[in-house]
Amino acid sequence: MSSLQDAIACPLCRQPLAKLPQGCEECFNYFKTELEKIPTPLMDLTPSAALAQIEIYIVPRKLLRTELFRSPIISFLYERVLPPIWAMGLRNRGIDVEFQQCTEFFGQGPEIVVDISCGTGMMARRLAQLGQYKHIIALDYSETMLQQLQQQMQLDSIPPSQITIIRADVEALPLAADSVDAIYTGAAMHCWPNPEEGISNIYRVLRRGGKLFATTFLKPLPSVVFRFFTVDELRQIFITAGFHPDQVWVEAKGIYGIIKCLK
Ligand SMILES: C[S@@+](CC[C@H](N)C(=O)[O-])C[C@H]1O[C@@H](n2cnc3c(N)ncnc32)[C@H](O)[C@@H]1O
Repeated sequence: MSSLQDAIACPLCRQPLAKLPQGCEECFNYFKTELEKIPTPLMDLTPSAALAQIEIYIVPRKLLRTELFRSPIISFLYERVLPPIWAMGLRNRGIDVEFQQCTEFFGQGPEIVVDISCGTGMMARRLAQLGQYKHIIALDYSETMLQQLQQQMQLDSIPPSQITIIRADVEALPLAADSVDAIYTGAAMHCWPNPEEGISNIYRVLRRGGKLFATTFLKPLPSVVFRFFTVDELRQIFITAGFHPDQVWVEAKGIYGIIKCLK
């Protein structure tokens, strides 16, 4: 499937927004209007955005490890402070090395590539500039991270049509089942409230033969705010989500974990 409109779905009923009639009429108008914004910059496809339209709805707060990234200060500082620290070895010798590993793994085939929990879009922007994929979707729960992504796109002269930006919750992904070819989710799982739920959502939306490249941080980092993993725990999360054990590769580079999966 290569149509963006077939891939983007209501996060409540999970039907592609392009398909009529919709499964849940309450959210239909809201999401349809959001979809019509493509390729304008930012759609909010979180379940709470839709529910707030149809009832008095108090958006529940997520765990600190997710809410932290909604702070404008954290979002502003994120890309300005962290990359040189990562490049010293903490994160895979830097984002450019990670970009190379990720694109090598994806190969030439993918048409729809999604950067889940994209933050300021360091990977999504590189993927767009590569010019090899038909559609890039960048998703994050933090509206302020996505605003930084929009600003960076302007600075990098990447037109809005090259990256579809969606505010979304990985636990209610607004993507149809079996709809995307490749997913990158970098340094993100340890920030999600429920990584098991997030990875099973990713498994659901990847098409058969689709590829996932994920990275996260490992124990012995202490799980105080973030939740860190052992290599065995990671393997188990991906296998429980549905990936075949022979198609899950987990590699530890110090405290950094790199996971590659084939659906
Ligand atoms: C450490 S940042 C990683 C950003 C980027 N992927 C990178 O490689 O630097 C973690 C990101 O996960 C996002 N996040 C946390 N909880 C989320 C959720 N439930 N759904 C989607 N994104 C989430 C945060 O907003 C934040 O941008």
